[in-house]
Amino acid sequence: MKDGGCRVGSIYSLSTEGDVVVSEQQVRDQWGTRLGFVLAAIGSAVGLGNIWRFSYMAYSNGGGAFLIPYLFALFTAGIPLMILEFALGHKLRGSAPLAFARLGRRWEWLGWWPVVLSFILVVYYMVIIAWSFNYLIFSFTQPWGQEPAGFFINDFLRLTGSPWDFGSFRWPIVATIIGIWVLNFVIIYSGIEKGIERANKIFMPLLAVLVIIITVRGLTLPGALSGLNYYLQPDFSALLDARVWVAAYGQIFFTLSLGFGAMIIYSSYLPEKSDLVNNAFITSLTNCSFSFLVGMGVFGILGYMAEAQQMPFEQVVDKSIMLAFAVFPKAINTLPTFNVFFGILFFGSLVLAGISSSVSLVETVAGALMDKFNLSRPAAVTGTSLFAMILSLGFAFGNSLMVLDIVDHFINNYGIAVTGLLECIVLGWFFRLDEFKEYVNRISDFSVGSWWIWSIKIITPFVLGIMSIQNLLGDLSHAYGDYPVSALLVLGVLVVLVSIAAALALTTRPWRENWLLKPTGSEE
Ligand code: PHE
Repeated sequence: MKDGGCRVGSIYSLSTEGDVVVSEQQVRDQWGTRLGFVLAAIGSAVGLGNIWRFSYMAYSNGGGAFLIPYLFALFTAGIPLMILEFALGHKLRGSAPLAFARLGRRWEWLGWWPVVLSFILVVYYMVIIAWSFNYLIFSFTQPWGQEPAGFFINDFLRLTGSPWDFGSFRWPIVATIIGIWVLNFVIIYSGIEKGIERANKIFMPLLAVLVIIITVRGLTLPGALSGLNYYLQPDFSALLDARVWVAAYGQIFFTLSLGFGAMIIYSSYLPEKSDLVNNAFITSLTNCSFSFLVGMGVFGILGYMAEAQQMPFEQVVDKSIMLAFAVFPKAINTLPTFNVFFGILFFGSLVLAGISSSVSLVETVAGALMDKFNLSRPAAVTGTSLFAMILSLGFAFGNSLMVLDIVDHFINNYGIAVTGLLECIVLGWFFRLDEFKEYVNRISDFSVGSWWIWSIKIITPFVLGIMSIQNLLGDLSHAYGDYPVSALLVLGVLVVLVSIAAALALTTRPWRENWLLKPTGSEE
């Protein structure tokens, strides 16, 4: 008990003789305040994906028209699934594997798979945060000179010609990878309330301030309006292209951290009386407004740059990670004033947004290990962080960008899409979704109606199903990114297969006795 409230998750345990004698409190960490939880959930959602991915997704998928499928995906899949994941973690009081195992042991693997995917994601996600940190330091002296793209590829990454050619070990990147991992470690090691909640209470307001400054500055530059035009001018014909819809759904899943188990574990630390529906709306809407705002700033600045260099807008934008590490430094060069300050703001916000997301990924993995193997937080967090950090260091070679691109393509296209699909099918069709609805409505201020059931049972699985098939057909017809097929097979297909095998292997391990009893209060 704490402050008169109760620690969640009391379960009954058997004595060694086998008869029920004591009711044991499973002491689960808990958020200190509702605001703390919401900020942490927003912290998980707002990440690298909002700052550069959203902007170029919008740009390359019909500009302003992209917002239509994006909002459609937000309301038909994003928010409903956020409510579902919150409900799952809260009702069953556990990480994804524990929650699914409590529904039935045969579904447990469906909880482990996203956990393994989170582990893989955090390994390379940290590398991008580390690069951002290098660039934050570079902002002081701007060593990228007049050719930032060349600097990024040749001087910074020392990119080789093939994913199989490792090239040289990049010590400056090693240093920042270790530094970012240590910071991440300290936050999670300190616990839910004292670590993750506290960090997000500092990071999120700070990030908001940085982004508002970036946006205001971006929009007040000469030429900003032409950039905004590109961003917002709708190309309605894009709406007829199925790929645009697939891209919108993919972006919503990634940006809201859905299908990775992160939102499930975060909500498992909520107190019993928590308004899940409201929290899900606040988290999702704040995240997407944030993306929209950043997009305005980014395009305003690009518009200015195009005008300053007298180049057509199409030639200044890039549709990949180069937007952050090549286009932006160039934009910083062209700014009339405060260049150093602006670089610090931009790369600083990437680092802040990144860490608040990576923390949730590591917590997803460590929390699952704590649940299943009865590990202490220090043991689980240290083990997970050390192992993942060593793997991250594998991205400090000259082939990093290619390896990262391949792994990311496969994890995103076959990982989240399929776990999201299975989550909807299993919970929608094999369980009484009505029960979840009643549960959610009982503890939330405003209720979800049958639209929620429809979204989860029909709309989301339908779109995710099409998305998976389309991704598969695309990959079968054309080698992704023109990489050698051997690299796609090993770094893509094999990594996905290994993630499934790892999920199955973890599932076979036994649970502590009676650990799978449903928590009191979760039954109708
Ligand atoms: N939502 C994060 C982003 O947009 C990525 C993420 C996915 C974080 C899954 C945690 C879990 O960058």
